[in-house]
Amino acid sequence: MSITKEISIRRTFGIISHPDAGKTTLTEKLLLFGGAIQVAGAVKSNKIKKHATSDFMDIERQRGISVATSVMAFNYKGKKINILDTPGHKDFAEDTYRTLTAVDSAIVVIDVAKGVEEQTEKLVGVCKGRSTPMIVFVNKLDREGKDGFSLLDDIEQKLNMKACPLSWPVGMGSDFKGVYNIYEKSLVLFSPHGKQAEEDTMLIEDLSDPILDEKVGKRLADELREEIDTIEEVYPKFDAEAYRKGELNPVFFGSAINNFGVKEMLDCFVEIAPGPLARETEERIVHPEEEKFTGFIFKIHANMDPKHRDRIAFLRICCGVFKRNTNYLHVRNNKKMKFSNPTAFMAAKKSIVEEAFPGDIVGLYDPGNFKIGDALTEGETLHFKGIPSFSPEQFRYIENADPMKSKQLNKGIHQLMEEGVAQLFIKQDNQRKVIGTVGALQFDVIKYRLEHEYGAKCSYEPLNIHKACWLSSEDETAIKDFLSRRRNNIAKDIEDQIVFLAESQWMLKAAQDNHPEVEFHFSSEF
Ligand code: G4P
Repeated sequence: MSITKEISIRRTFGIISHPDAGKTTLTEKLLLFGGAIQVAGAVKSNKIKKHATSDFMDIERQRGISVATSVMAFNYKGKKINILDTPGHKDFAEDTYRTLTAVDSAIVVIDVAKGVEEQTEKLVGVCKGRSTPMIVFVNKLDREGKDGFSLLDDIEQKLNMKACPLSWPVGMGSDFKGVYNIYEKSLVLFSPHGKQAEEDTMLIEDLSDPILDEKVGKRLADELREEIDTIEEVYPKFDAEAYRKGELNPVFFGSAINNFGVKEMLDCFVEIAPGPLARETEERIVHPEEEKFTGFIFKIHANMDPKHRDRIAFLRICCGVFKRNTNYLHVRNNKKMKFSNPTAFMAAKKSIVEEAFPGDIVGLYDPGNFKIGDALTEGETLHFKGIPSFSPEQFRYIENADPMKSKQLNKGIHQLMEEGVAQLFIKQDNQRKVIGTVGALQFDVIKYRLEHEYGAKCSYEPLNIHKACWLSSEDETAIKDFLSRRRNNIAKDIEDQIVFLAESQWMLKAAQDNHPEVEFHFSSEF
């Protein structure tokens, strides 16, 4: 197959949701459609169980299992689809943010009863910032929930999306009869447990057709007619180009566990979702059709098993063909590297790949060379953009608890930060090291790993910080003035960028109000 053809059939996306909305269930159904797994339940190991949150080792163990499900590839209708797994657990949100840099589109799962939840809002915000095309799947229609229009309002207001319903529920919960596929003008009737037969789908060109009343009852049929009229009046017509620009968001309704409405969404997805997109670097835009290989590392997964210390670095191929046992330039270290065991993922199966194409993800065994955002090329110096660090939410001073092991401690901290476990800041007033994380769990992970992987001991001291913001200004004196006034709250990150550590929401607001010439950024790239 030619490289142009290989590129044209790739669809790489992530599923995002608040925990429990049904991401794992949906993923599994998609894999079943693609024939990548044969039985339901095969992907469950990927999920961090709710009740295990107090025991980080348990979570890490489950994360270890999830290496295999980091990327799940399957074939469907002539397309090669890569689903990148995004942890829903909020303590690993930073992992998810980074994974979203490697996708070309996303599917957002929302629970019909709960509507838009906090984690979904955050993740959609990250995708919005990059104009990532997103499709929404409203799940659990077999249960009572919010009505369709208030969900669309929720989606528009909280997620700042332009909703474009492509299917519409007929009834809900115990009354749920099916969905009307607006895109294809067909009615799909619901039967629990995924026994959706061909004859349960019917084409209804004209909603006034009495067959509709016969199938769903007069009350629901009339309701549907009225609602579809409203949709046609109020919501925009579907426009694939607007969707691909991230300006319009198709919305589907269904029930993942019952395998209902999933196929309709998948069929639409393979038709409209973008293939591998161009990527921005500091030097230039990298286009997938380019001949020479280029890729970047978006995630590093450490192995918690002490017998297998290797890390796996996940590489997104951006252009050209990545080949096994071929020398590539690791741009940051200016070193040639080749990989004898690059791994591809097919659902839970791993295999060594000879070559990979734009849109593909390969896992590279890494003894500690890589850092998130690193570029691999055939020789060109490129620095990928759009892989920022996000403002952490928890902060502690980190101290050396074993003075004989300070070298090990420094090496360990440095490597863990490169892996993206947390962020390190050096406070400028006292030169003390501050660790910032998204979730409190990460502090335990760091302590444990420093001890078991680097033979170093650390202790923490509390630090009352609400947010870290990166600073910039057109006016250099404004920054200087700010730095001298807020000396006690200034730190530097590992790239030597200036960061303001605000003690409270109020303090942050006061700083913003008093220094209008200074810009406060919530991610390291601006
Ligand atoms: P997540 O990955 O987004 O966290 O969610 P997951 O798929 O694990 O689903 C969360 C819960 O919601 C699961 O139940 C799952 O069975 C259920 N669920 C998913 N889709 C539907 C649906 O369409 N309708 C209904 N009624 N439930 C759905 P659980 O009891 O938490 O887990 P389990 O014991 O079923 O594994």
